[in-house]
Amino acid sequence: MGKRIAVLVSGGGTNLQALIDAQNEGMFSDSKITLVIASKPGVYALERAKNADIASAVLCRKDYADIAAYSKTLTDTLKANNIDLVVLAGFLTIIDEQVYEAYPNAIINIHPALIPSFCGKGYYGLHVHEAALAKGVKVSGATVHFVTPECDAGPIILQKAVAVQQNDTPETLQERIMKEAEWKILPEAVKLFCEDKLTVKNNKVYIGE
Ligand code: GAR
Repeated sequence: MGKRIAVLVSGGGTNLQALIDAQNEGMFSDSKITLVIASKPGVYALERAKNADIASAVLCRKDYADIAAYSKTLTDTLKANNIDLVVLAGFLTIIDEQVYEAYPNAIINIHPALIPSFCGKGYYGLHVHEAALAKGVKVSGATVHFVTPECDAGPIILQKAVAVQQNDTPETLQERIMKEAEWKILPEAVKLFCEDKLTVKNNKVYIGE
């Protein structure tokens, strides 16, 4: 049966757009993005949802007393919308175990580096690429993984490497990694999930035929 997908965003939403484009191309067959949740109002990702006729909601952390209260509302919203798969696509608000426990092996995140490099607390957005350039790595890339309580440590679904160039800035590296890796492997991972092809065993993901 088709799955109902929620995409959680905090910014420009280019990864959300890659998912919308994949859906329009029929990549998810009868599965569908039915909800976009933004962590703040006015982000361009919400425009993308509107343009694609996808329902959206804004849940701001500052409107809640603590992470637990925020996470409860988020979980309730996902459940009320019968969501099967939660995609964190540049979602930068911290959530707690209530959400993870409600969606075991059903929350996926895109990270703009090859985990376990340049990941964990503080590594998000351009900071990730600044750290990669500061280290002088010759390849970086992107990782899609299941989300578990430990930040960026969940089972890895897909990874794609991207060459670093000598004259890269954090911005040029970010752009190349998005284009060559993120916008490809995120829709691919969603497709595999929707086709029930992902199995997690001993913290590793096995991909079925
Ligand atoms: C993407 O590069 C994503 O990998 C990154 O934020 C960006 C969001 O861009 N996520 C993280 O750094 C998570 N730790 P987008 O809003 O255009 O998709």
